[in-house]
Amino acid sequence: MQQVIEKLAKNKKEIDLAFLNLINDELKILEESLTEKLPVRSKLLSEVVRYIFKAGGKRIRPALCFLTAKATGQVSKRHFILAELTELIHTASLVHDDIIDSAPLRRGRETINDLWNDKISVITGDFLFAQASVRLGELENSEIVKIYANVLSDLCDGEIEQYSLKYDTNISWDQYITKSTTKTASLFAAACKSSSLLNDQSEEDIKLANDFGNFLGIAFQIVDDTLDFTSTKNELGKEVGADLKQGIITAPTLFALDEKNEKSQELRKLIESRFNNPEDFTKAINLVNELNGCKKALDLAKSYLEKAKNSLTFVKNLNIKPYLIEVADCILKK
Ligand code: FPP
Ligand code: MG
Repeated sequence: MQQVIEKLAKNKKEIDLAFLNLINDELKILEESLTEKLPVRSKLLSEVVRYIFKAGGKRIRPALCFLTAKATGQVSKRHFILAELTELIHTASLVHDDIIDSAPLRRGRETINDLWNDKISVITGDFLFAQASVRLGELENSEIVKIYANVLSDLCDGEIEQYSLKYDTNISWDQYITKSTTKTASLFAAACKSSSLLNDQSEEDIKLANDFGNFLGIAFQIVDDTLDFTSTKNELGKEVGADLKQGIITAPTLFALDEKNEKSQELRKLIESRFNNPEDFTKAINLVNELNGCKKALDLAKSYLEKAKNSLTFVKNLNIKPYLIEVADCILKK
């Protein structure tokens, strides 16, 4: 049992998370489904899929499916299907995201596009989406089919919006939050909403479960965007500063640009000039930090986590509430 927790947890800090212990049995079954049970005939596809899932991952979205199930009743066979399809969609979107970003690293290992190539990545991502659709069919719940169909279109919408806003220093907070909601929070929200729906909760409580996932997801994305500036390559398992280098303007940069002074004007110019040389890029990163962008971004993430916690009135089994609060708190420590 401890082995599973250790595999899922990146470091000692995560091993101590009580919510991972609470749902350890469920996560173990999920892990077997992902690594052993996907029906793949092609030897190459089987190799690629194994490589992806053996890399682990935080499995935070499946964790939300299981914890919401426990908070609103029992974990049923259908919650396992929901957890699996949610992780399949998330993983597929990362495989495609790495092609779009030409990313060499993910979770500290070479990406599929780097180790194999873009073509293999496209097909593998599509296969994972297809497997998620198969699971969705198995749920035999048209409401959940609609929720996840909307998530898929949201993911594409958010990703394209991000692409179209590259190097645009006039990006508004509304555009940033909307993009983060569609790109990331929609899947978190769907996991919590669908899990409570499977336990026949009231419309009002299903909406609150959706809100919890949504606010958590927005905070998650803001923290992810901040770590891009504050982490080392080793901690991040991917290249540092990759977002800004590609012209993706996120919360820390937006806060820095909001400061109407000489430094923020310099930052604006550097971004608009698309970093003519490597020194310009380093200068821009330093300016974001000097203008307090990361600290303010983390404060913004905290405010979304507070909103998430305030939505926890949907919880029926009050013993589970502290675990959901712990999930919210661990977003800041990710
Ligand atoms: C990672 O975010 C990426 C996403 C959350 C969504 C990516 C979505 C797509 C590629 C579209 C999905 C396509 C279909 C067909 C549904 P990030 O880039 O902020 O995180 P990272 O730094 O870990 O890459
Ligand atoms: Mg990315």
